[in-house]
Amino acid sequence: MKRALTPGTFDPITSGHIEIISRASRIFDEVIVAVAASPKKQPLFSLDERVALAREALKGMPNVRVEPFCGLLVDFAREMDAHVAVKGLRAITDFEYEFQQTALNYQLDPHLETIFIMSSPEYMYLSSSVVREIASFKGDVAQFVPSCVNDALKAKFA
Ligand code: PNS
Repeated sequence: MKRALTPGTFDPITSGHIEIISRASRIFDEVIVAVAASPKKQPLFSLDERVALAREALKGMPNVRVEPFCGLLVDFAREMDAHVAVKGLRAITDFEYEFQQTALNYQLDPHLETIFIMSSPEYMYLSSSVVREIASFKGDVAQFVPSCVNDALKAKFA
């Protein structure tokens, strides 16, 4: 069984994330969406909220499950018996950060391979942070996120 992780903070999950997860789910037998606690990023949504929103958004994908994790990605991957991490790559600006993460993770555990899926042009400039910013000013983010996230953002910024 080929199992992959798609790690991220998912604060909140967007249509761009969902596209990458969906494409990964067609390549691997099982995909675990690994929602990082990421306390240093001071997320808008709690870890439980981010997990619940991701589960709701992905409930139509039978070989995808969502799990929270604290600590190092390489440790969580070992715990889950996953040897591949799949990341989405958007504009070229993502590259340096992802390059660093991949190199460090490889040094920490060479058994964890990181591979990248290029975002489709539609989602190339979409990120959780721009979604949060637009929503914070009461802008319409319905085209960028699943409806459960849209509702959660409206409630957060009401
Ligand atoms: O969606 P993000 O915030 O870009 O995802 C980053 C994430 C969560 C994948 C990354 O910060 C991570 O793997 N965090 C877990 C802690 C860890 O393993 N850090 C060392 C990576 S070099």
